[in-house]
Amino acid sequence: MRLPWVPAVFCVAIGAFAAGRSFLSYADAKPALEAQRDKLPAELKNATEARWDAWARQQDKAIRARLEQGDLDSMVNLLLFGTSFTHQPRILMENLTEASKAGILKARVDDLVAGLRQPAGNERLEFLSGVLRARGLDPETPEGARETGMFILSNLERVAEEARTFARRAAEADRKTVAASDPAALLDRASLFADRGVSLDTGIFPNFSIEQTLRDLKKRGLLREGQVGEVAVIGPGLDFIDKNEASGYDYYPQQTLQPFAFYDSLLRLKLARGGAVSVSVFDISSRVIDHIQHARERARKGAGYVIQLPRDIARPWPDDVVAYWKSLGDQVGMTVAPIRPPDIFQSLNGGRGLETRAVEIRPPVVLALEPQDLNIVLERANLAPAERFDLMIATNIFVYYDAFEQTLALENAGAMLKPGGLLLTNDRLPELPGGSIKLAGVTDVPLASQGVVSRQAVGWYRRR
Ligand SMILES: C[S@@+](CC[C@H](N)C(=O)[O-])C[C@H]1O[C@@H](n2cnc3c(N)ncnc32)[C@H](O)[C@@H]1O
Repeated sequence: MRLPWVPAVFCVAIGAFAAGRSFLSYADAKPALEAQRDKLPAELKNATEARWDAWARQQDKAIRARLEQGDLDSMVNLLLFGTSFTHQPRILMENLTEASKAGILKARVDDLVAGLRQPAGNERLEFLSGVLRARGLDPETPEGARETGMFILSNLERVAEEARTFARRAAEADRKTVAASDPAALLDRASLFADRGVSLDTGIFPNFSIEQTLRDLKKRGLLREGQVGEVAVIGPGLDFIDKNEASGYDYYPQQTLQPFAFYDSLLRLKLARGGAVSVSVFDISSRVIDHIQHARERARKGAGYVIQLPRDIARPWPDDVVAYWKSLGDQVGMTVAPIRPPDIFQSLNGGRGLETRAVEIRPPVVLALEPQDLNIVLERANLAPAERFDLMIATNIFVYYDAFEQTLALENAGAMLKPGGLLLTNDRLPELPGGSIKLAGVTDVPLASQGVVSRQAVGWYRRR
């Protein structure tokens, strides 16, 4: 809670200092262990406190280890869509065979290996070079370069195979959703990515859905003007290069969007007052946490944080998303000149290219972010009742976990909310009978473009 007489900047410091975290205790996990008896991992059948503690610590490590596979997935996205290390055309997953026959794939692999050998200040290549070296791959030697190329290709094969599996699962989940009359069925994504590497992928669309949901909650009287002060973003992600070609870019520095977009929406809808918001940011990725820490360090010296917002005009967005894109950031920063996209985008899109915007976020907004390492499946921040959150958002994160882990995550989020506080998420999370937090409703966010309507949904879970 913000003390009225203390300047915002000191409150931020106190908040960051005071917060600690704890593993979910056996006593707190027990109701989930009982409710999900049939779905428990073998080690947790007939659990005792000691077995729970051992499992929780081991599972925390296992979850964090999935980040490495996510990094390798990003390497594959970079191979296919990156433009910072090659002049070769970008490759769509569905055109892989043609690209391979045309020699484009081989040329891209060679260019990527050359880039990894000499990253020359390219932060994405520098990062991946470290990942590969940690695995004993050294592109400096001819033999190492060959092995690196083979390693990249074997990961491409794995990712292509996984993409087919995920598409099958998604089609199955969609069939059930269409058959169901309950709007909450839109949230059922059936742990689609429970066996996938954990990626940091992020983009503008989830933020549009969150703004639409906040608007809906305000219209329904469930959120009032000026009501929101303490908020949290769980898993904001880092735009390294997205897995969707339509938003997979590497021509600008890595960036995080969600915490700023959320703050921006809260001000646009007058749910919060500028300067009176603190945004806790929880993530298991040290890259996300460090990235925000560095932005804060620069903000302390007066530097803003620039976000690049490209839009591929060959793929029309719904009008309301375009309107959102045009306004994104206007409450928390000012429009600045965007980085010019490489020429390859002009030639690829029938000369139409990318439309771009950039916004420089004001330093006090950057300083309102309080990043903290926290695994939402197994941990909760230790917060006094007055420090708990009015609102938490978590998009495209719970889909990486199975039903038992989702139940734990839901209860951990519940423990960090004020009574009546809301968690907004685009996944259905199994609730505990008598648990602290329940699905209170769903906002359906239709995305209509050129006669085709796809639907997103955001559920609001309310703390009792
Ligand atoms: C796919 S990204 C989604 C980013 C963003 N929320 C969006 O929708 O664009 C998933 C993010 O959640 C984080 N994450 C995954 N599992 C987590 C966990 N158990 N606890 C906290 N953060 C987690 C990842 O590190 C990453 O930043």
